[in-house]
Formats: sequence, structure tokens, C-alpha cells
Amino acid sequence: MNRTTHRGTERVAVLQTKFTELLGCTVPLQQAGMGKLASPALAAAVADAGGLGMVSGIGAAPPEYVAKILDGLHRSTSGVFGANFIVDGVRESGKLDADFLKVLEVAASRASVVEFFYEQPDAELVEIAHAGGALVSWQLGSASEAVAAERAGCDLIVAQGTEAGGHVRGKIGLMALLGEVLPSVKVPVVAAGGIGTGRAMAAALAAGASAVRVGTRFVAAEEAGTHPAYVDKLIAAEAKDTILTEAFSANWPNAPHRVLRSCVEAVDRFQGEIVGETSQPWAPDVRVAVHPRDSFVADKTTTGTFDAMPLWAGESVDGVKRVQKAGEIVRELATEAEGLLRHWND
Ligand SMILES: Cc1cc2nc3c(=O)[nH]c(=O)nc-3n(C[C@H](O)[C@H](O)[C@H](O)COP(=O)(O)O)c2cc1C
Repeated sequence: MNRTTHRGTERVAVLQTKFTELLGCTVPLQQAGMGKLASPALAAAVADAGGLGMVSGIGAAPPEYVAKILDGLHRSTSGVFGANFIVDGVRESGKLDADFLKVLEVAASRASVVEFFYEQPDAELVEIAHAGGALVSWQLGSASEAVAAERAGCDLIVAQGTEAGGHVRGKIGLMALLGEVLPSVKVPVVAAGGIGTGRAMAAALAAGASAVRVGTRFVAAEEAGTHPAYVDKLIAAEAKDTILTEAFSANWPNAPHRVLRSCVEAVDRFQGEIVGETSQPWAPDVRVAVHPRDSFVADKTTTGTFDAMPLWAGESVDGVKRVQKAGEIVRELATEAEGLLRHWND
């Protein structure tokens, strides 16, 4: 972060970082992958506002669908966007799943960034994404994983603290994690977990992160297509209302996650075999049954007992006050962070 060179009438370049230089963004902010909530519309809105927009939830999609949405993004925004993949279970007996490989190749040839989450950093995946022309990132939760990601060839990494909403990889809070990760690697580090205000963004940048990754705030973005019942719960919640749990592990075991405590209590009480139904964006007419304790995200296609569904939320949930346009969220965080960082320079 360059905080020293321009003073007086010149704008202090507090928001120019290794991340903005590498990616060509104007704001050091990445919208998180968030299953199908990280839709093309959300990614485009964040990219238009100068951040890094991400699409996710596409690992099991047909390659033609992935090509269509990424080609569409090229037409709809001149900003920077990437594709996020959860790679838990993409290898069987050590061999990469053939369908996943196709989707990955399609994404790598169209997105500026291909990003992976979960598992140990994997040089073969990084190589495939590089071969398609993308920069490669890995979201991780420890300094040893950060070193492994850099060694595997990643161009940037995301350090995720336990404050984060959704699945949580690491065991420690963000500031402690940054303290371990930043001295361990040379690549730009994006800070994730609990960042829902410009103040938290400024703190992460001041600590040495090159950008911040924001998830929960964007769940309540207009473009995310989140079910209103879920958004209302986020608006009503505070940081103390979230919990790190394994309550929603039926289809993804041994993977801790942060949700609203109320949904853990509700699913404990829930009786019945099906908690709701939902559809995937590439097959809107196909209804998929959701079982209690399944990991999935409730978007506007979802029906059922919302209280007992996983209501993913980070400690950043305090920042969710109302439904907002994604561009407004980016500008709000960037303006507040910039103001604070400039003030600290005076
Ligand atoms: C609703 C939701 C879904 C998520 N799904 C994904 C995902 O598909 N891929 C991923 O890499 N991370 C996922 N995450 C975790 C985020 O990448 C990120 O680490 C987290 O949102 C940061 O914390 P915050 O929510 O406090 O901003 C998800 C988070 C949320 C809130």
C-alpha cells in the first residue's frame, strides 16, 4: 500500500496496492465466491464499480453454461472478474474429475482470475488455470497453506480468518492470520473474514493486506438474487448472532462453517425429511430437494422452511443494514476506508 508519496492537493494513493496493480482494478476489494449468489449480475456490478467481481457455484455446471455466462460478462462489463471453484472432492483416486476439468478450462480461458477454495494448494490445478491464461488465487486458512500456494504457483492468495461467513478453512482470527501469512509469502494477500465496513477494510489494508474480500455484505446486494427471508435475518443480526459450527454438514462433512446461530437451533428442532426445494441457474425448471443439514444457499428459487436452512453469515453481518446495489456497497467501503487511511497519514 502506497500511503506516503502524495500529499497536499494531490490525492493520496491509499487504495493503490499490489492487488490493484496486478489485476487492473481501481478498488482493492474482491467480492467473495458465494455459491450461486455470486451470480454474473453481482460480479458485473462489482467489476463495474472497480472491484474484482467473482462468479461461483459453477463447478458442477455444464461447460456450455459456464462459457455462456463468462462470455456474457465480457460483454456486460469492462471491469475485472474471476471464477471461484470449491475443489473438495474434484479428485477420485488422485485423478481429476473429467467434467470439472472441462469447466475449469472454459473458465480459465475467459476469466482474469481463477480461484480455488479448500484442500491443499494443488500445482496441477494452478497449471491448468495458468495454461488457459488466468491469474490464479487460493483461499486458505494458515501460513503453511499460504507457503504451499505460493510454491504451487499462485499469483495471489486469500487469507481467511475464522470471522468469515460460509465455510471456514482456518483456525484463527484474521489479524493473527495476517500476522503469520504476510511475512511468509511475496504474492499479494487478500484479507477475508468479518470485513463489512470501511473501517475494517482500512484496518486490513493498514495491516499489510493488498485487498479485502467481502462476502456477507454482498449477500444483501440487490444483484445477488438472495431469498428475502435470508436477507431479512441478516439485517436483523449482529456479529454476536453468528456461530462457527458443523451443523450443516450432511453433504459436505468435516467442513466447519459460520452461520446465524438461530438456524442451528431451528434445524435441531426441525422434523421432516425435506427442508425445502431449490434450482440451479443452469436448470431453472429442475427442482432439487434440500435435506435438513445440507450445505446450499437459499436464493429466490428456493422454497421451504428458511429458518432451518444454513443462513451463512460472517461477523461482518453488523454491516448489513438494508438491501443495496453492489456498486453502492463497493463505493461505501472504499470511500470510508480511503478517508480513514488518509486521516492516519495526516
Ligand atoms: C453465503 C456465502 C457463501 C459462500 N460460498 C463460498 C464459495 O462458494 N466459495 C468460496 O470460496 N467461499 C465461499 N464463502 C466464503 C467467502 O469466500 C469468504 O471467505 C467470506 O464470505 C468472508 O467473510 P465475510 O462473509 O465476513 O465477508 C461463502 C460465504 C458466504 C457468506
